[in-house]
Amino acid sequence: MHADARRKPEAEAVVRGQAPDLGLPAETCLFEGPLTPCILVIFGASGDLTSRKLMPALFNLFRHGALPRPFLVVGCARTDLNTETFRASMGEKVQAAVQAAPDAWAEFAQSLHYLTFDYTSLASYVLLGNFLQELEKRYQTQGNRIFYLAVPPSLYAEVAQLLGQAGMAEEGVRGQGWARIVVEKPFGRNLATAVELNRTLQQGFAEPQIFRIDHYMAKETVQNILILRFANTIFEPLWNRNYIARVGIIAAEKLGVEHRAGFYEETGVLRDMFQNHMMQLLALIAMEPPSLFEAQRVRDEKAKVFRSLRPMQEPLPPGTLVLGQYTAGSLDGRPVPGYREEPGVNPGSMTPTFALLQIHLDNWRWQGVPFYLVSGKRLPEKVTELIIQFKEVPHSLFRNIHLQAMQPNRLILRIHPEEAITLTFETKNPGALVCLRQVTMDFPYYQNYQGPIMDAYEKTLIDVIQGDQMLFWRQDGVELSWAYFDPIIEACETCPDPARHLQLYPAGSWGPPEAQSVLERWSR
Ligand code: BG6
Repeated sequence: MHADARRKPEAEAVVRGQAPDLGLPAETCLFEGPLTPCILVIFGASGDLTSRKLMPALFNLFRHGALPRPFLVVGCARTDLNTETFRASMGEKVQAAVQAAPDAWAEFAQSLHYLTFDYTSLASYVLLGNFLQELEKRYQTQGNRIFYLAVPPSLYAEVAQLLGQAGMAEEGVRGQGWARIVVEKPFGRNLATAVELNRTLQQGFAEPQIFRIDHYMAKETVQNILILRFANTIFEPLWNRNYIARVGIIAAEKLGVEHRAGFYEETGVLRDMFQNHMMQLLALIAMEPPSLFEAQRVRDEKAKVFRSLRPMQEPLPPGTLVLGQYTAGSLDGRPVPGYREEPGVNPGSMTPTFALLQIHLDNWRWQGVPFYLVSGKRLPEKVTELIIQFKEVPHSLFRNIHLQAMQPNRLILRIHPEEAITLTFETKNPGALVCLRQVTMDFPYYQNYQGPIMDAYEKTLIDVIQGDQMLFWRQDGVELSWAYFDPIIEACETCPDPARHLQLYPAGSWGPPEAQSVLERWSR
């Protein structure tokens, strides 16, 4: 599946790339200019997302001096806590980080506040408004506010609506500065619900105030795709149907559904990974150069990619869409249960945990080039990579002498495990005998970089604080992506014999046999 897994190691030599150390002070690459003071309101502050992602990210930013001063967090949730107990509970949740820097935590914890909150009552929002005003007066945060929806998606619309009704979406009135709302994925569960959710959000908030998160976009090597393509002259002339044979976008995970059965049963791999993350990766690989590296122009180009997606039409050619679900198997030598045996999963569940989807773009640049998108849970390795497979040379003049098959060039942008860029090409093996060997030039992305390494949530939070929407979905993109996936998902969910379309694969394998044979052909 993953390109490296199938290459013959003895045929390969690895050349490490060289990156200069820019010698920049650690903070230089974190953000531009001063950050404006603000308050971050987290709805769902006692939940998993807050303790697993947001709080560690905020604390890390604080430690690197990458939060505005002053900066406050107001946690809101139904759980009966107060500011003191909230601080203590967050300290326990990020214990390892706290132990590493106890003084910094003690200082950071002073910026955390808490309000027990009823999401469905306007009175709670009015109270919150008063509380924010008090804090703003006391700490001089200039009335700037971010509302982060870390609540279950079923609450998004109601929270946004009540924020609007309480006047908190307004900017520049009653001492309020700017107001931004952050919405986690999933943004709707189909086109109709995404349109409806957006309509509700826009009753209070305007598009520039809405930040629809996709944490994949904030990953370092994902951000690097546009730099690689458009800050170099050598790739772009080859970046089209004349030189590229196919593209693979792989997001393989070892994890199973874990404790998220309730969510996953309703979602499945197509909604969870494809409609959002995989589409963003596709857009970055396939888009035309925008005239300027700026949020609207970049997102305009992405939207054009989504507009050129060729709709799927029944009957699908074999290997176009393979859906799978993991059964019991073994990973790293230990037995793991099948999806249907996981806690909270319906024992007769037809939810796919794996998909391979072959996509075509109907446009000038990509006509005829297949894009293979693969993602699944309980696969043998966690691997996220983009593989650009170039065409074979038009004529092999070495056919009479070489000892092993010549491989076409391959460029891999690796996002996980090690963020890296690798390029394979053929060379002559040293020695009197002319024989070819494939070498891989490998550039580990963090080579000679001394600064702090930011996780995707840290980058996302900085961008929201700065009001930069480049790495967030715009509504037209969301809708175009759903418009493409709706008929596919509907056909899978409503077909009379779903078992025929859902192939089982043992946990720890590379997916259903049909997908494996597509990938086998792919990697040749
Ligand atoms: C999330 C999905 O958006 O992305 C999860 O809901 C998935 O199911 C996760 O595991 C993968 O993200 P990453 O950053 O670990 O590749």
